[in-house]
Amino acid sequence: MEDNLEKIISLAKRRGFIYPSSEIYGGLAGFYDFGPLGTELERNIKDSWWKNMVWDREEVVGLDSAVVFNPKVWQASGHVDNFTDPLAECKACHKRFRADHLVKDQAEEGKLDEHGAYDPDDIDEIARAIEKINCPECGGELMPPRQFNLMFKTFIGPVEDTEARAFLRPETAQGIFINYKNILDTQRLKVPFGIAQIGKAFRNEITPRNFIFRSREFQQMEMEYFVKPGEDEKLFNFWVQERKRWYTEELGMDEDKLRIRPHTKEELAHYAKSCSDIEYKFPFGWGEIEGIANRTDFDLKKHQEFSGTDLRYFDDVSKEYFTPFVIEPSCGVERILLAVLCGAYTEISGGRTETTKAAKELEVVMKIGRKLAPVKVAVFPLVRNKPQLVEKSRQVYELVKGNFACQYDETGSIGRRYRRADEIGVPLAVTVDFETLEQDDVTVRDRDSMKQERIKIEELTNFLKEKLQN
Ligand code: GAP
Repeated sequence: MEDNLEKIISLAKRRGFIYPSSEIYGGLAGFYDFGPLGTELERNIKDSWWKNMVWDREEVVGLDSAVVFNPKVWQASGHVDNFTDPLAECKACHKRFRADHLVKDQAEEGKLDEHGAYDPDDIDEIARAIEKINCPECGGELMPPRQFNLMFKTFIGPVEDTEARAFLRPETAQGIFINYKNILDTQRLKVPFGIAQIGKAFRNEITPRNFIFRSREFQQMEMEYFVKPGEDEKLFNFWVQERKRWYTEELGMDEDKLRIRPHTKEELAHYAKSCSDIEYKFPFGWGEIEGIANRTDFDLKKHQEFSGTDLRYFDDVSKEYFTPFVIEPSCGVERILLAVLCGAYTEISGGRTETTKAAKELEVVMKIGRKLAPVKVAVFPLVRNKPQLVEKSRQVYELVKGNFACQYDETGSIGRRYRRADEIGVPLAVTVDFETLEQDDVTVRDRDSMKQERIKIEELTNFLKEKLQN
């Protein structure tokens, strides 16, 4: 399974899904660039989320806030004081590690008395456990851990002093809270209502790892759902189920690879009353792709206190003021994208296309669902040394290309071209052959069933559209 991750990383780079960022300068740990296919896949995931969360719901509206806010936002939210991870540094090689991860790994391997049940915010508890652990790199002694704030710092304007210090947002959520009043004042919304946002978040992770799973720059899709206090638990449960449904029914993820994991009391973030993670079974183990939290009225009350602005809600029916509670489904685009790639990766030994069968090669098919596939349709001429076939194929490509992400390919043998299309998950391949010149029809081959159908060119676009719906 671990091997699969290496293979997926290599395919992602080779075929243009994901590149290490700044690669020509040796890269930069925790940063990635998305290539042509990664960009399409990412857009499809975001579009599906936006449709499900905003377009399909009368009570949810969208927002696109700034990345840098007045630094008081992060004091009010508690991030200046609490958004930390425990860091342990080796006295000998000076490598730095997430102290809580070291303790958890060792406890799971049975090398510590503790069995992973400890409070990651309790630095003394972690310090006691760290005393029994050596540096995983060089075996040296580790220094006592300290809390390290994950927010990236920057300066606003020409003077780099503490007055000018600001942060890159580590979550998009606060952009929503600070616009809650603007939205309430300008839209006709009544509780329960939601504000959704997709955007970049930045965290100076101590140890970015598992490819794009834990990176330093990533995108979040978050929705803050403002509810009447007392309705919060019911709506929290609703959102946990609804979000899980999106992964299986809309993204087509395998039910067996998903689970809901409620947080223990020790794990809860400083703002949360309850939280459940949706986890995916990655090649490296179960990992969180989404958290659904009951943030109570923590954020609005804090922003009210720090800004002096009244952020209460007036209920027309009961004629009362109250501060809404907030249910927050929050997920990361990169983690979902990685889960999609891992779920899609399929090896077929011996090959399934003519050329690979003959060569007994291993064939890779990325079984990405039709809605998410970065390229929907590939168009090929059967052979490329017949100008009439090439010309006809170009016409077919021109005919369908405006409707979906589409590729034209005439390089190498037809078997190779099918194989290349399978490797990036193209669901439908259209081949123009000699019969096409006489009958004006083409072969459409389905990536998963390998079934081939003859379709008249005049019916082709509608046929492809229909196929891609299912
Ligand atoms: N507003 C709540 C919040 O930010 P979180 O659990 O810290 O909660 C939400 O983050 C989601 O953001 C996670 O479920 C994950 O999908 C994504 N995420 C968090 N840190 C990440 C990182 N370093 N790299 C990639 N994605 C990350």
